Amino acid sequence: MARATLQKKPGEVASMFDGIAERYDLVNDVISVGQDRRWRRLVRDAVAAMPGERVLDLAAGTGTSSEPFELDGAVVVPSDISIGMLSVGKRRRPDLPFVAGDATALPFADGSFDAVTISFGLRNVEDTSAALREMLRVVRPGGRVVVCEFSTPTWKPFRVVYQEYLMRALPVVAGAVTRDKGSYDYLAESIRSWHDQAALGALLLEAGWGQVAYRNLSGGIVALHRAVKPAAGAMEPA
Ligand SMILES: C[S@@+](CC[C@H](N)C(=O)[O-])C[C@H]1O[C@@H](n2cnc3c(N)ncnc32)[C@H](O)[C@@H]1O
Repeated sequence: MARATLQKKPGEVASMFDGIAERYDLVNDVISVGQDRRWRRLVRDAVAAMPGERVLDLAAGTGTSSEPFELDGAVVVPSDISIGMLSVGKRRRPDLPFVAGDATALPFADGSFDAVTISFGLRNVEDTSAALREMLRVVRPGGRVVVCEFSTPTWKPFRVVYQEYLMRALPVVAGAVTRDKGSYDYLAESIRSWHDQAALGALLLEAGWGQVAYRNLSGGIVALHRAVKPAAGAMEPA
């Protein structure tokens, strides 16, 4: 099966996810040894949606990352570039309003959401900053963003072990479940070459987000970045 390269061309990324869509959720549980469920709970807490709020879950894939926000009574809109992932989601949850779209050119009006979130998706987008600016555009002033993404373990001995595990075991295990080792070679490579916590925080600020903060999950295997869209005319303190 064709895997994407680190150039992250949208067509290549979309067809790679089309190829793994059927087994995507199962593999997540296997390779994260169930941690993905805990991470999703913490994303829900960070978004802290109020009943009736509109939440955009970007790069939502099959919609598994969208479901926690329903528990808070939010109206969640899952959006993704891969028709294969969206089709699996639609079959599983025909009631969710899945929307096809590219994170760098979203088919939504300015200020149409109270919050936007993206879990394990931003790393796959060709132009990170363009996606962060687009997320800012579709959120109302005062609205928030939560980015959940693989990051850099903070404790060096653990980081070394983790990167060994990633580079060797992850594609082998996931490849055995999906019969598509290449896509999981891409996963390991894309994690290793991704921004660390501070660098992603800087990109959020640069894109125009305010009150940028992050917390590490599982020792920094994952980081949750949060930020707020400044009210019109408001300036961030220098
Ligand atoms: C690892 S999956 C994450 C899915 C889901 N958010 C989750 O947590 O299970 C990454 C998703 O990002 C989507 N994606 C990649 N590039 C994208 C882009 N430019 N615009 C929108 N979605 C994109 C892929 O199609 C894929 O479904």
